[in-house]
Amino acid sequence: MKIGVFDSGVGGITVLAELKQRLSSVNYVYLGDTANLPYGSKSPAQIETLSIRCAQMLKQKEVDALIVACNTASSLALSAIQTVMAPIPVFGVVDPGVQAALGALNLISLQVDPVPILVLATRATIQSQAYGKSLRNTFENGNTFKNRNIEVFEQACPLLVPLIEEGWIQHPVLDQVIQEYVRPYLKEFKKGVALLGCTHYPWIHDSFQAALPGWQVVNSAWAVAQALERSEFFKTAQKPDEANVGRVEWMFTDPKALPEFAKKFIQNRNARDSILIQPVLNA
Ligand code: DGL
Repeated sequence: MKIGVFDSGVGGITVLAELKQRLSSVNYVYLGDTANLPYGSKSPAQIETLSIRCAQMLKQKEVDALIVACNTASSLALSAIQTVMAPIPVFGVVDPGVQAALGALNLISLQVDPVPILVLATRATIQSQAYGKSLRNTFENGNTFKNRNIEVFEQACPLLVPLIEEGWIQHPVLDQVIQEYVRPYLKEFKKGVALLGCTHYPWIHDSFQAALPGWQVVNSAWAVAQALERSEFFKTAQKPDEANVGRVEWMFTDPKALPEFAKKFIQNRNARDSILIQPVLNA
């Protein structure tokens, strides 16, 4: 079985790493559209066009299922991607992200009132309100959190992806930028849930946690792997034999645009994973 993982850049590697750890009995094809990054500052129409093109590339690779690891594409182009990929199953990251936030909510003491859930993501994801709508819908129509006073906030963080892609993942400028984004919420709330609604952000999880002491900082990677594992597709799909699993085929629309830390990550895993770097120039 071959699972496709699509992201606008290197962010989806955080999802792939989780998938590999949890679902080791398959092979993966990773496509990062590095030639067209960032998606987060583009219009919905542009995001849809680029996402469709990437889905077509992965369909040609004959993947058995596709994970749209990019939150921006998941928020704005999931149904277009599903149409292109049909009948191949497509999994987005927004629902698993919401599940991760709800799980973290259970870890916040009942004494905390109100409890903030702060969604941090690209401008396009925030403008789509994909997370906000889904979270509010859960609280308005479900029973589980009925007795809690939950407030949902959505914060666009457009400066973060360029800093991460620049490789400034342990940098005082990055810490300062994060502090600026979260300052108003930290001022008002001592505890809460911060949902990293962008696949790039787990690379800088520690900086978020340092900027939000006392908060639960979560991302969707683990929940994505769980959703795939529990799906009807995965339960019934034919798995390759043991000797032929664990391979990742890497595709980047501009391989030169990879930040150093991502290259290192890919190379470090080379020995174990039989990695093939496959440049696909500007799609
Ligand atoms: N990977 C994208 C996401 O998860 C962020 C990077 C971009 O703006 O393209 O939203």
